[in-house]
Amino acid sequence: MINALGAVASLVKPVAMQVLLAYERLESGVAYNPLSDEVARDPYVVYRRLRDRDPIHRMRLVDAWVLTRYEHADAVLRDHKRFSAEDRRFHDVGLTTMLDIDPPDHTRLRALVSRAFTPRSVSRWHGRVQEIADRLLDAVAGQDRFDLIAALGYPLPVTVIAEMLGVPAEDMDRFEGWSNDIALIVEPILTPVQVEGVRRATEELFAYFETIVEARQREPRDDIVSALLAAEEEGEKLSREELLSTMLLILVAGNETTRNLIGNGMLALLRHPDQLQCLRDAPDLLEPAVDELLRYDSPVQLDGRVVREDLEIDGKRLREGQKVIALLGAANRDPAAFANPDALDISRTEKSHLSFGRGIHYCLGASLALLEARVAFRGLLDRFASIRLAAEPRYRDGIVLRGVESLWIEVEQRDRPA
Ligand code: HEM
Repeated sequence: MINALGAVASLVKPVAMQVLLAYERLESGVAYNPLSDEVARDPYVVYRRLRDRDPIHRMRLVDAWVLTRYEHADAVLRDHKRFSAEDRRFHDVGLTTMLDIDPPDHTRLRALVSRAFTPRSVSRWHGRVQEIADRLLDAVAGQDRFDLIAALGYPLPVTVIAEMLGVPAEDMDRFEGWSNDIALIVEPILTPVQVEGVRRATEELFAYFETIVEARQREPRDDIVSALLAAEEEGEKLSREELLSTMLLILVAGNETTRNLIGNGMLALLRHPDQLQCLRDAPDLLEPAVDELLRYDSPVQLDGRVVREDLEIDGKRLREGQKVIALLGAANRDPAAFANPDALDISRTEKSHLSFGRGIHYCLGASLALLEARVAFRGLLDRFASIRLAAEPRYRDGIVLRGVESLWIEVEQRDRPA
C-alpha cells in the first residue's frame, strides 16, 4: 500500500507548506502540522501544546478551526443547528452518507437504521460474535507468537458486519479491500490518486451491493438489508441511493474503527502491565476498561463540521462556511475533563470520552463495537496466561483513523482443565 502521508507530503510543495506553517505560528503562536514526524511519533504531545497555547486554533494547511478542549468539542458536536455535517469533507468523491447530512433527512434515515443497532438488537449478536472470535483464536492456538491484527483485529469486525449485511464469506477479501479504500474519505489531506481510489471503490461496492439488494428483493431475510429494502418499498422513506450509501456506511464505519480499538487497546494494556494485571484480577472492570482504552488512544481522532452562521467561541470569530475540526483525541486528554489524563486507568469514573462522537451523529454502532471489543479482550485474557509485546508496532498513516499496522505479541497458553 502506498504511504499516504509520505505521498501527500511530497505533493504539497515543501516551501509552500513551510510558509503556511510559519504564517500560522505568527498568527497564533503555534502551528499544527498533522503530517509532521512529531505527530506520527505521538500526537498527544502536539495536542497538549495546541490546547495549552491556542485551544481554538486556525489551521492553515487545510483551512479549518481546530478545537482541542473537551468543553468546545463536546459543545460543537451537540449543536447541530449551528454546526452542520453537510459539506464537511475536504474532497468531493460524489458520496453522501448519513454522516454528511443534517435533519430532517438525517433524522429520517437514522430512525430507519437505528432499529438494527439498539443495545437489545445487538445483544442478539453476542453468541455469533463469540463464535467468530473463538474460531479466530482457535486458529492461533499453539502459536507462541502472532500478529493480533491479522489474527483477530482485522477479521472479527469485517466478518460480523459482512454477516449482518448478508455478504457471502467468499467475498470477504474484496469486501475488506473496498472498505479500506473508501475509509480514506474521512481524511482531510489526500492525493488525487487516493481521491480517485475512493471514487472507484465506491462505484464497485455499489454495484456489488446491488446484487445483494436484488437477492433480498427476491427473497427477504431477517437482516438489515431486507429491513431497509422494506422501508424503500414503503415509498418516500428511503431512496435507492440512500439504501446503498447506508450499506456502505455500515461497512466502512464499523470495520477499521473496531480493528483499531482492538489493536490500540491491547497495545495500551501491554504498555501498562499494571493495568493489564488489574483487568486480569478484576474481570468486572472489563466495561470501564474498554471505555478507558477508547479514551486513551481513540480509533477516530477527529470529527469535522461546518459553521452555519457567524459566531464566537471564547473570543474567536468563526464565519459561516468555515470548517471546524473537533480533535476527539485531544478532548479525551483534556485535564479539565479527566484527572491525570495521560495515565491509563481502567477504573476511571469521570465523564464519558468523545471517541464515539456526541449529539445526533453519535456512533450508531457503539454497542456493537463495545460487544466485539469486550469479547476480544476477554477471549485473549482467558486463553493466555501472559501476553507481551513482541515487536515495536508502527501506526498506519492517517490523521483521522488511528491504528497500528500490526501488533506482534508473544503469548503463553493457559493450561486448560481437561
Ligand atoms: C471502536 C469502534 C468505533 C468507533 C471509535 C466509532 C466512531 C464513530 C464516531 C466518532 C462517529 C461520529 C461521527 C460524527 O459525529 O461525525 C460515528 C458514527 C457512526 N458510526 Fe461508528 N465507530 C465505531 C464502530 C462502529 C460500528 C461497529 C458501526 C456499525 C456497524 C458504526 C457505525 C456508525 C454509523 C452508521 C455512524 C453515523 C451515525 C450518524 O451519522 O448518525 N460505527 N462512529
